[in-house]
Amino acid sequence: MGNNLLKGKRGIIFGALNPDSIAWKVAERAHEEGAKITLTNTPVAIRMGETNGLAEKLNTIVIGADATNTDDLTNLFKESMEYLGGKIDFVLHSIGMSPNVRKERHYSDLDYNYLDKTLDVSAISFHKVMQTARKLDAINEWGSVVALSYVAAQRTFYGYNDMADAKALLESFARSFGYIYGRERRVRVNTISQSPTITTAGNGVKGFDRLLDFAERMSPLGNASAAECANYCITLFSDLTKMVTMQNLFHDGGFSNMGMSLRALEQYEKGLHQDCACGSANDDYPSADEHRYD
Ligand SMILES: NC(=O)c1ccc[n+]([C@@H]2O[C@H](COP(=O)([O-])OP(=O)(O)OC[C@H]3O[C@@H](n4cnc5c(N)ncnc54)[C@H](O)[C@@H]3O)[C@@H](O)[C@H]2O)c1
Repeated sequence: MGNNLLKGKRGIIFGALNPDSIAWKVAERAHEEGAKITLTNTPVAIRMGETNGLAEKLNTIVIGADATNTDDLTNLFKESMEYLGGKIDFVLHSIGMSPNVRKERHYSDLDYNYLDKTLDVSAISFHKVMQTARKLDAINEWGSVVALSYVAAQRTFYGYNDMADAKALLESFARSFGYIYGRERRVRVNTISQSPTITTAGNGVKGFDRLLDFAERMSPLGNASAAECANYCITLFSDLTKMVTMQNLFHDGGFSNMGMSLRALEQYEKGLHQDCACGSANDDYPSADEHRYD
């Protein structure tokens, strides 16, 4: 049930592919809170995914756009303003994709064309969204732009590969663009660093089920769900957080400030008593040419 936190506001939501998508939950919550929104995704994702069904449910439209293409983004902002009847108040960037992760390339043996793609889709698209919006003067004063990130931007996580570099860049864009956009137009820009969450993108990360379990045991509040992430996004779109900008905000049940928890320690101890083949010190550091993906 909504509290009209976004009543009268207009928003654009990137990245709702299917009901698991974090953006899907954000779109539903924004609608519930009284916002008018448009949805966007790549033409392929619209064809293969379920975005059209969500649009029908929320009584809105889907505008196809590849977020790496500035012509598509220009069209998206223009069409959205026309359909919604004015300038935009909030934008959710909920986009991530790494061909190196998909093709299981080892981090010490990256394909650099893939790396370009990872950075363009997962990070530079965020800059492109903001640069396009600013050129069109498409976002109202006190508007709010949010992108979704992950703690691998600050710390190293097994299997996260070049997405870690993309997230570091994404968070840097929030600071650098947030300064300009805030100073000139009072538009705020933040990233939310979310717990591991079961979605199409999340499942692509090697060892994701174990990462999910580890984060759950380490976090005093447990992992934050997609629905809880959506709630947090709504607060950032609302006027209740008007003075928050250029921040990377952890939404992770406390994970990012933990070192070791009792629950994780107990589970680890159980593993120590089992006869496992992981005792060799070198096992943590396989050479790249072993083709072991780490
Ligand atoms: N799932 C997790 O564990 C987790 C944790 C922290 C942060 N995140 C971040 O949350 C965001 C949303 O991911 P999700 O987990 O909901 O997965 P998801 O797969 O549902 O969403 C990813 C979306 O990106 C879209 N996309 C890919 N390339 C695009 C392009 N060129 N232009 C426009 N859209 C494009 C996809 O179509 C899809 O809708 C991502 O930035 C992801 O890195 C996810």
